[in-house]
Amino acid sequence: MIPVYFAPLEDVAGHFFRNLHNRMFPGADRYYAPFISTAGSLTKLKTRELTDISPENNSVKELIPQILTNDAGEFLNVARLLYEKGYREINLNLGCPGKDVVKRKRGSGFLTVPDRLDRFFEELFYGLDSSCLGDLKISVKTRTGYRDLSLSDKLIEIFNRYPISEITVHPRLGKDFYRGKPDMEAFGIFYQGIRHPLVYNGDLRTREDIEDIMKRYPGLSAVMAGRGMIENLSLARECKGGEVASLSEILAFTNELYLIYKNNLNAGIYAVNKLKELWGWIGECPYFSENRRGIKAIFKSKNPVEYESAVRQLGNDLPSY
Ligand SMILES: Cc1cc2nc3c(=O)[nH]c(=O)nc-3n(C[C@H](O)[C@H](O)[C@H](O)COP(=O)(O)O)c2cc1C
Repeated sequence: MIPVYFAPLEDVAGHFFRNLHNRMFPGADRYYAPFISTAGSLTKLKTRELTDISPENNSVKELIPQILTNDAGEFLNVARLLYEKGYREINLNLGCPGKDVVKRKRGSGFLTVPDRLDRFFEELFYGLDSSCLGDLKISVKTRTGYRDLSLSDKLIEIFNRYPISEITVHPRLGKDFYRGKPDMEAFGIFYQGIRHPLVYNGDLRTREDIEDIMKRYPGLSAVMAGRGMIENLSLARECKGGEVASLSEILAFTNELYLIYKNNLNAGIYAVNKLKELWGWIGECPYFSENRRGIKAIFKSKNPVEYESAVRQLGNDLPSY
């Protein structure tokens, strides 16, 4: 089995989530941290970003920070801060589909201006060499385009010209957000064209999905899963030959995460909202197909008391809070 990466998931898979997931369902070979946006943070990280990325707050064996920018100077400034914290690989986000991000030609919007992307890489790799960051690896996570595939050959040619350490391709267009199915024909174009180690990402939900992708694309260096890792918390563990998560493991995970958030975030309602978002995925797993009332009660809960009572409806082996 090739390495299995845990995808960056902004607002969902911060350090509390990653540490607990890695402890309870080990198997992911590396975790990617949600993007750090360089907008306005030229020489200093925001407290939230710093907390999320600080090595003392992270216990997973390999964590790769990610930067969202279209400015090589800003990338280098943040890269230096991350380098000083011990990171030796940084991922560039070329996939974010958010409207404001795209409008500013960042994330998947950066793919619409390939000449500018070319200059960015030129400045970035030149800057790494001249600022003693020569051993810092730069990897890329990209979509296959923003509006259509008309620029894919040009993008591939640009990617191939720079010493990018690994490229993760999520074969959806930026304009499609997460709608529809991954475009495997588009992925095929990147698979044929990219000369760097290539990672597949998109809609991997089961061990079988991963095995199918590996058979279809035997040259992949790794696979990356995001939502599938939450819907199926033991996905990476299963890939390493481990057991499918039991209902009690899933409930133990959500309970512990809830308590961690409740103790560490300013107000209980933040913990409730974070868990409700997670339940949107976890609630899809087959254990809960018979207990939709419990899941619905979670979605309706508006405060910790309502959330805790809804969670108790899901199983009677829950600890009392
Ligand atoms: C809630 C959410 C947050 C995300 N945050 C990031 C992010 O910070 N950086 C990034 O490159 N991709 C981000 N993505 C995209 C995922 O990493 C991944 O590429 C996408 O969900 C497709 O893979 P999946 O089907 O395995 O989830 C996010 C996706 C979701 C649903």
